Amino acid sequence: TILVLDFGSQYSHLITRRLREFNIYAEMLPCTQKIKDLSWKPTGVILSGGPYSVYAEDAPHVDPEVFNLDVPVLGICYGMQELAWLNGKAVARGEKREYGPSTLNVIDKECPLFKNVDHSTVWMSHGDKLVGLPNGFKVVATSDNSPYCGIAHESKQIYGLQFHPEVTHSAKGKDLLKNFAVDICKATQNWTMENFIDTEIKRIRTLVGPTAEVIGAVSGGVDSTVAAKLMTEAIGDRFHAIMVDNGVLRLNEAENVKKNLVAGLGINLTVVDASDEFLDKLKGVTDPEKKRKIIGNTFIHVFEREADKIKPKDGTEIEFLLQGTLYPDVIESISFKGPSQTIKTHHNVGGLLENMKLKLIEPLRELFKDEVRHLGELLGIPHDLVWRHPFPGPGIAIRVLGEVTREQVAIARKADYIYIEEIRKAGLYGQISQAFACLLPVKSVGVMGDQRTYDQVIALRAIETTDFMTADWFPFPHEFLKKVAARIVNEVDGVARVTYDITSKPPATVEWE
Ligand code: XMP
Repeated sequence: TILVLDFGSQYSHLITRRLREFNIYAEMLPCTQKIKDLSWKPTGVILSGGPYSVYAEDAPHVDPEVFNLDVPVLGICYGMQELAWLNGKAVARGEKREYGPSTLNVIDKECPLFKNVDHSTVWMSHGDKLVGLPNGFKVVATSDNSPYCGIAHESKQIYGLQFHPEVTHSAKGKDLLKNFAVDICKATQNWTMENFIDTEIKRIRTLVGPTAEVIGAVSGGVDSTVAAKLMTEAIGDRFHAIMVDNGVLRLNEAENVKKNLVAGLGINLTVVDASDEFLDKLKGVTDPEKKRKIIGNTFIHVFEREADKIKPKDGTEIEFLLQGTLYPDVIESISFKGPSQTIKTHHNVGGLLENMKLKLIEPLRELFKDEVRHLGELLGIPHDLVWRHPFPGPGIAIRVLGEVTREQVAIARKADYIYIEEIRKAGLYGQISQAFACLLPVKSVGVMGDQRTYDQVIALRAIETTDFMTADWFPFPHEFLKKVAARIVNEVDGVARVTYDITSKPPATVEWE
């Protein structure tokens, strides 16, 4: 296992990600991690980049014990400056920030770190720079603007890079990380998803023990389904899944989830129809954030009530709560400021943990979204479910603008169903990151047959994105939009007009509320 110490760079998580792409397991911990508190010995250590200046008074510094582990160390950007700071303090503010591509020039062709990597583009993002060589180091690579682009302490096997090899803009960055991990650290390349399943099932069994029981919410989405299936593989019916039908799910969703999870995947699932309760509480509410809060709180309430009905056979209490937290959620909340890692929990689950005195179990916390999908496929979860678009917790309530009533939800649902069905038929579902229909609370005049109509408007949204932080609208063929619009107006009572949303994020958000 390679230890990655995170100094807070926005790219840090990509380091572990890249290493895993060549089957090397890496664990990322905050830069404040003390080596004596580790229960395992790393085969190598990587110090990540970070937004700080090593010479600043409150700058984070690495535990010096890292250098007594007698394993290779690689410092990236801030990590390299940290190496320089600890070995002679030759770091200063650069005259200008260097951000963007630069060309690498390898001086020492024998340096194992730079095997097959000469003259390639590298990605820079730094304000500080080295103003001299740290004690015991030599220059192994330069770039257009950096005389100290790559440095090495040969006898101690400590290396530093001014640029970020973990980003895809660094053309040979992956090779560099591989050279470090495989050739220099001699890390074993045995991390596979199949192994992950085996070790995770064993870990869950040990954690839960022979009798304790686990409860968890499923939504019909990929993360909670994969987590639930993994729990079922590990402890069978001692895992209890609960799905809350909040009345604002997609058309036929509760029945479909039941069919898929119970009949298809053997998951011990209870579906609770609480739609009246949710819709009653939503009566008269038009503010989007209020809708979110009501749905979140009602969810906790319903889930706890249902959980209370599930009693372990031996008369004890349920001990654990399953959560489908993914790696990006975990790392987002790792901060160097404190030694403890606070994990960003979905507010629903956060509330549940406190009220029910449950221990948390998070089998997906090491995985990225695409890895969860791969895992889902290996666990036999149907392709359509594994590749499903995300769906927000507050569901159709934030896609029915204005007041949420049964009638409005029914209209939005039907339109959405038709839209998604046509997207699938056209073979476009996989190219789109998220698509849905919104019902707008405005009326517009139309004509059908010889009749004047005066009905509502459906807005269609479809976006392409990699991280949902920014998004662009999907360029449908005109014929496709024409067909969907015709079907919705003809088949959904109450809709007179269909529009297509051509706003990107920013300035718009993905959802309309
Ligand atoms: P926005 O609208 O913020 O959406 O651009 C980005 C992504 O987040 C989803 N989303 C939510 N998911 N609860 C959720 O579980 C929410 O309140 C919520 N609001 C937005 C949205 O569907 C999109 O994928």
